[in-house]
Amino acid sequence: MVPFQMVVLMDPMEDPDDILRANRSREKTYIFDVTFDYLANQEEVYRATTRGLIEGLISGYNATVFAYGPTGCGKTYTMLGTDKEPGIYVRTLNDLFRAIEETSDNMQYSVTMSYLEIYNEMIRDLLNPSSGIMELLMRGNKQRTQEPTAANQTSSRSHAVLQVGVKQQSRCLDVLQEVRFARLFMIDLAGSERATQNRGQRLKEGAHINRSLLALGNCINALSDKNGNKYVNYRDSKLTRLLKDSLGGNSRTVMIAHISPASSAFEESRNTLTYADRAKSIRTRVKKNLINVSYHIAQYTNIISDLRCEIQRLQKKIADQAGRQLHSDRADIRNVQGTTFLFLNSDSLLHH
Ligand SMILES: Nc1ncnc2c1ncn2[C@@H]1O[C@H](COP(=O)(O)OP(=O)(O)OP(=O)(O)O)[C@@H](O)[C@H]1O
Ligand SMILES: [Mg+2]
Repeated sequence: MVPFQMVVLMDPMEDPDDILRANRSREKTYIFDVTFDYLANQEEVYRATTRGLIEGLISGYNATVFAYGPTGCGKTYTMLGTDKEPGIYVRTLNDLFRAIEETSDNMQYSVTMSYLEIYNEMIRDLLNPSSGIMELLMRGNKQRTQEPTAANQTSSRSHAVLQVGVKQQSRCLDVLQEVRFARLFMIDLAGSERATQNRGQRLKEGAHINRSLLALGNCINALSDKNGNKYVNYRDSKLTRLLKDSLGGNSRTVMIAHISPASSAFEESRNTLTYADRAKSIRTRVKKNLINVSYHIAQYTNIISDLRCEIQRLQKKIADQAGRQLHSDRADIRNVQGTTFLFLNSDSLLHH
């Protein structure tokens, strides 16, 4: 890694003394928006890649973050992380809820969340409602299909998709309401792998994983095509079907490519960087998701009852305040009466 945007992939087979191969070096340089090495911590990665998406999210822009790369390179670590070093999921959700809280005086939000996996081309729900975000995610991740493989003790055998929906509307009730909504996808892919060392079920999973990753690769190729007229086959896998908008549609999308520094991983690293490099040239068309809801006459009763509640709430507030005021006024009056009484007394004293 050359700070902070460059990766140089060196050929481990290269022999500087081999003059016959001197012009055939496979060394290659790549430029990205930001690059990290092993010293980077979760917070730095989150800040540089994902944090910027949150503001857009609450004003109606879709966003996607996905972790990509070969098996064992740290995708699950980046997205989920550990209790002590939480990853992008939790950091994003914390900041999202903070941003919502800061604007909740005037805006009303509803947030929905789903966590699902694509395992052997089947979609499974990973959540049942529970409390605590990290607990939910950990629990979801435990549910997730994970098996030791030759390359990674805790290898994800499925693609995990955390989807967060944010709907925002003003608290002032009106006949014409502007509603903004946006979806955030956070995706931890299963890693591409060479199947040779895995047998049985692991081999079958590997084939499915590689199949959807191949479909993803094909979509990236088609989308980044310079002439821009290639057919993009999203239907080849559930993964690409789900990622359709994130890849070529209405979404701000961040791809976090992971590679291993090991020389034995050279080919995989090169492959990953090639796709990441192509993905750079994909242009998505981002637009705000906005709908104007003009209420139907039948909904007026709801609006009226909401308004009644609001009026009651405000009346109670005024009454409470007035009560408090009255309390302090009474104290004042007693003082005044006290004075008057004294005055009268002195007056009557004078008289007598
Ligand atoms: N930056 C890091 N710091 C500390 N440990 C890490 C880091 N990155 C990865 N690891 C550890 O390396 C191991 C492999 O990482 P991880 O499971 O995240 O890989 P993966 O890319 O999700 O692989 P797969 O595609 O097989 O699911 C895990 O034990 C993880 O905790
Ligand atoms: Mg994983």
